[in-house]
Amino acid sequence: MAFWFNSDQERGQVFADAFARDLPGLPFVMDVTQVNPDNIRYLLTWTAPPDLDRFKNLEIIFSIGAGVDQFPIEDLPPGVKLVRMVEDGIVRMMQEYVTLAVLALHRNLKAYLAQQSVGKWQALPARGAADCRIGVLGLGMLGQAVIERLMPFGFPLSGWSRSSRQIEGVRCYHGTEALYSFLRETDILVCLLPLTNDTRGILDARLFSALPTGASLIHVGRGAQLDHQALIDALDANHLSGAVIDVTEPEPLPPEHPFWRHPKIMLTPHIASVTQPETAARSVIENIKCHRDGLDLIGLVDRIRGY
Ligand code: GLV
Repeated sequence: MAFWFNSDQERGQVFADAFARDLPGLPFVMDVTQVNPDNIRYLLTWTAPPDLDRFKNLEIIFSIGAGVDQFPIEDLPPGVKLVRMVEDGIVRMMQEYVTLAVLALHRNLKAYLAQQSVGKWQALPARGAADCRIGVLGLGMLGQAVIERLMPFGFPLSGWSRSSRQIEGVRCYHGTEALYSFLRETDILVCLLPLTNDTRGILDARLFSALPTGASLIHVGRGAQLDHQALIDALDANHLSGAVIDVTEPEPLPPEHPFWRHPKIMLTPHIASVTQPETAARSVIENIKCHRDGLDLIGLVDRIRGY
């Protein structure tokens, strides 16, 4: 039985070293053409390889990313488990990025950079953290970690999730009906939702119109959740004041896309959070040990729910 690492060589070497150290009995394969497909029990990959049915003894597919929307979840062999990447490196990077984005929006960074570029020295109105309500869409591992990092600044914090959650110091909303109550009390909206049929296109004109005037958006979910034109319209009508966008559909955006040059948009190339090989290898190894010991897998995807 073997583990197949189906990703880049550089990260593969880090994984290979960790597997040799911590799971010496499990052969680690990078070139699958060199082994009998029947030997592959575990696979780490970004998305499903085309000929997956060849691997008759495959038990677990580990996603190399936190998201699993790139997998054809319904078409995976029925007995195979799919596992999201849950690892400290992803969590820490997401905490950094969202903190950066919240503070940049809260302290008008984009406007000050624009002023600098034309030699203008002028203070803009500022409000205290206590007057800037942050709302996080999606209260999974990343959403909760981001909230924890933002707490010391003193922003009022709320969160929305599909099913009910309780987090100390956070006003939690859940379910479709509560979404609009949540939005009405949110000045900076952070989208950390997984992409599913329910969340595709969720950041649309109706959602933006429920936010208070002057609100802003941080989008670190998935590109297909955002209606680009609705965002431009809300910004240009001065209903929204700014947006920090890390994920788009498509990626990259075409050169003429308005997001590149919009004065109220800060755009980054899907770098908010990236799997870190050392911590990811540790997490996959722990999960394989859990599997061997008959324990629950961390990050196991509910194939019906889609995340
Ligand atoms: C990045 O977007 C990931 O899914 O890890």
